[in-house]
Amino acid sequence: MPFDEYTWIERQEVLSFEEIERLARLFLGFGVEKIRLTGGEPLVRKNLHQLVRRLSGLQDLLDLSLTTNGALLAEQASDLRAAGLQRINVSIDSLKADRFREMTKRGNLDDVLKGLFAAQKAGMKPIKINAVIIRGINDDEILDLVGFARDNGFEMRFIEYMDVGNANAWSLEKTVTKKEILEKVHARFPVREVGRAHGSAPAVDYEFLDGAGEIGIIGSGNIGSTLGTLWVKSGHPVLFSSRHPEELKSLVDGLGPLARAGTVSEALSFSNVVFIGVPYGAYPQISKDYAKEFVGKIVIDAGNAVLARDGEIAKPARENGVGLTSAKLLAGARIVRAFNILSFRKVVNLSNRPEGRIAIPMAGDDEEALKVASGLVRDAGFEPVILGSLQRSKVFEQGGPLYGQEISAQEMRERLKTLP
Ligand SMILES: NC(=O)c1ccc[n+]([C@@H]2O[C@H](COP(=O)([O-])OP(=O)(O)OC[C@H]3O[C@@H](n4cnc5c(N)ncnc54)[C@H](OP(=O)(O)O)[C@@H]3O)[C@@H](O)[C@H]2O)c1
Repeated sequence: MPFDEYTWIERQEVLSFEEIERLARLFLGFGVEKIRLTGGEPLVRKNLHQLVRRLSGLQDLLDLSLTTNGALLAEQASDLRAAGLQRINVSIDSLKADRFREMTKRGNLDDVLKGLFAAQKAGMKPIKINAVIIRGINDDEILDLVGFARDNGFEMRFIEYMDVGNANAWSLEKTVTKKEILEKVHARFPVREVGRAHGSAPAVDYEFLDGAGEIGIIGSGNIGSTLGTLWVKSGHPVLFSSRHPEELKSLVDGLGPLARAGTVSEALSFSNVVFIGVPYGAYPQISKDYAKEFVGKIVIDAGNAVLARDGEIAKPARENGVGLTSAKLLAGARIVRAFNILSFRKVVNLSNRPEGRIAIPMAGDDEEALKVASGLVRDAGFEPVILGSLQRSKVFEQGGPLYGQEISAQEMRERLKTLP
């Protein structure tokens, strides 16, 4: 908000927390279901978490959210979360520190980014980044903002620059339309518009078409069913597949409407993103049976090659790494090696570990696929650490120095510095 052009009101005229709570109760009585704390800047209000606690405890309130400029978020995120705040919107119009300062008049980008990550660490979800796009000012950053949000597990929301009674020197030439923003994003990251009935609404709501949503699981055994379950719980529609789909009935019934069971072919056509967790000895057969269906898919490959279990194919896989071997077997698939280092029991126990997330090392040759898979690692409650190309995945294959390691992303990055 343009600070300097407003007159401040007297302290005694500001509603107390008791008064706000009372008003909230009245509104809820009239059928209001959602409350958003906004401003000015809500976090400058002392002890805002106490207001959050009052509101989050109200019966009938379905949704409580907060929009902030993020400047004071780092120090308040965990109190706000503990007080019951689930989700948050943070305004970031630029990822360039100088430009950010100019656009916000006095903001420090670094503080805001710290706030974002503190909110993530505190367990808030979704964390949305709001950006107002102004032609000639920050319209060159649309894709950078989307990339930043995708890489880090935030949602990106663009808002058309609007006329607010001329206080912001609005002009039509400075407006980048919602349509223009969508087209720009779509050209780089295919998306579809969602959630808004009116094409004229000023905010751009979209979802990515590369499958940050649906996931097909091939091999719904120990590891496949464990990860599929975590993804369903984080809101993804998941198709669990089996050569005997009827045997998956109790699993999918227990998980609710986002989960369903099907054949391997159905899993492959369900989504652009497929997780594979089958004994490595089965890969040649799967490759033979479904070669064409794998082409173009993002495949998160968790299989390990065990000489005593998996027959001939285990030899090249042990020698060259599973990643490169799978890339040959499933030609045309966009393979990402991940989730092979921990047993399924560890995955259950370590997901969203309260003392800090455990790292999942990843490798792949397709940058876009790595981004999608990173998001899914986060959604399963872990922290992705991208090591590089598929070749590099040897470091975390069985027998490699990172296999079985239960360490944080930072520790893993430190460890990597010591490896050849
Ligand atoms: N277990 C773990 O903790 C863990 C952790 C990380 C990685 N891994 C690796 O992940 C893979 C799976 O391990 P897991 O323990 O989950 O195995 P699992 O419990 O035995 O399940 C493997 C699944 O693979 C499917 N499958 C086997 N042959 C197939 C074929 N020819 N076509 C299609 N599907 C086939 C089976 O599904 P249907 O019989 O239902 O068709 C079975 O449910 C292995 O490579 C393992 O090394 C395991």
